[in-house]
Amino acid sequence: MKNVVVVGSQWGDEGKGKIVDWLSSEADVVARFQGGHNAGHTLVIDNVTYKLRLLPSGIVRKNKISIIGNGVVIDPWALLDEIKEIKSKGITVDEKNLIISESANLILPFHKEMDEIREDAAGKSKIGTTRRGIGPAYEDKIGRRSIRVMDLISEKNLDRRLETVLIHHNAIRKGLGKKTFLKDKLKKDLLEIAPQILKYSKPVWKKLSEFKSEEKKILFEGAQGILLDVDHGTYPFVTSSNTVASTAATGTGCGVDTIDYVLGITKAYTTRVGEGPFPTELKDNIGELLGKRGKEFGTVTSRKRRCGWFDGVLVRQTIKISGINGIALTKLDVLDELDEIKICIAYDLKGEKIDYLPASVEDQKEVKPIYRSFKGWNSKTSGIREFDKLPENAKIYIRELEKFIETKISSISTSPERKDTILIENPFE
Ligand code: GDP
Ligand code: IMO
Ligand code: MG
Repeated sequence: MKNVVVVGSQWGDEGKGKIVDWLSSEADVVARFQGGHNAGHTLVIDNVTYKLRLLPSGIVRKNKISIIGNGVVIDPWALLDEIKEIKSKGITVDEKNLIISESANLILPFHKEMDEIREDAAGKSKIGTTRRGIGPAYEDKIGRRSIRVMDLISEKNLDRRLETVLIHHNAIRKGLGKKTFLKDKLKKDLLEIAPQILKYSKPVWKKLSEFKSEEKKILFEGAQGILLDVDHGTYPFVTSSNTVASTAATGTGCGVDTIDYVLGITKAYTTRVGEGPFPTELKDNIGELLGKRGKEFGTVTSRKRRCGWFDGVLVRQTIKISGINGIALTKLDVLDELDEIKICIAYDLKGEKIDYLPASVEDQKEVKPIYRSFKGWNSKTSGIREFDKLPENAKIYIRELEKFIETKISSISTSPERKDTILIENPFE
């Protein structure tokens, strides 16, 4: 019996949704544990595309339980819209297959406004957030003034807590010359939708404990990527949660011993949305080609993703930081038309060769990649489902990449479609 955590090993958008959906055929429960609707996970099943933001990717399969854990920040209106949207595609969402933690913190309209006010005021030093209110909502959680799902039960409690959180926000808003945020309208709006959220609300830790004793297989679905982790990422150009695998335990309320295997999702090249250092970024026609072939536009904000060569130094680092046991390599097919493919194997920092990404953002911006070059395969890998059928040069690229990052590649994805995946080692076994 194994429980698996899936995390992104780069800057997000590695193809986690596709792999979680593919793996969830074997799982009983799929749980989100951090992030919010800044995530955008795309699944393609028999030519139908599903874009999930808050709902776990297991939701599309029958007889699976989906969990939104306490570590997730929930915009209740965004969640209800998403439920409505997915239901319109014929997917069932009800109290039997969706459980939301009563302790999850809410993203409210003033969080989104604060995210926007700050980004607009920051000029060149903006983070390039998804403007969904993620950062301000996590700040209020840590600041112990947040509104949680369970607060929707009692009008009196909700009133008291809104009062507290708005004292904080209105003081800042006033300082920035913005209108104060009024409590009563927000309270009324929240109480109106409260029953639609509360019907899914349960103590997730208790449900997980029951599922564990029933020997159900649990798949934890990470959002973002390790390089966006608030501790280990390219701070301050990061998200506001911990994205590493161990967050699966704190973000749902199960012990770390629940985690048996950590699967890192890794794109065969690198992308990043938003600002911040990106050593292997390509601002030339190869970068354009990767973006075009990989359809690298943000699922959430439609922003063009920055593209670059595979950065082995970074992935080797995130594997160590997050304790990744195996890699699902995605989007190999995007490299199909290239004559030459490069992997970053070290950096040059002011004339010194280093084998890791330094912690300071100033140094991160300064490092110059040192590359190893590979011959391209110039043929179609798209849709291949067996390793042996891959072109020889693709096999060499994969094997050398695997050697460099010192971790086994346990699957390879060759198209957005669920079935176009090469299985090498089953993480559940
Ligand atoms: P996530 O945030 O990690 O779930 O990734 P996104 O869904 O934001 O972005 C990944 C994109 O790549 C989506 O459009 C997927 O449909 C697509 N995708 C996933 N795997 C593959 C693959 O192997 N090949 C190609 N061409 N596209 C893929
Ligand atoms: P998935 O789960 C890629 C990035 C934003 C910005 C930074 C902070 O789809 O991989 P935030 O709104 O979180 O405060 O923004 O993090 N970001 C992502 N980039 N994939 C994501 O999620 C992301 N979620 C946040 O672009 O640079
Ligand atoms: Mg995404």
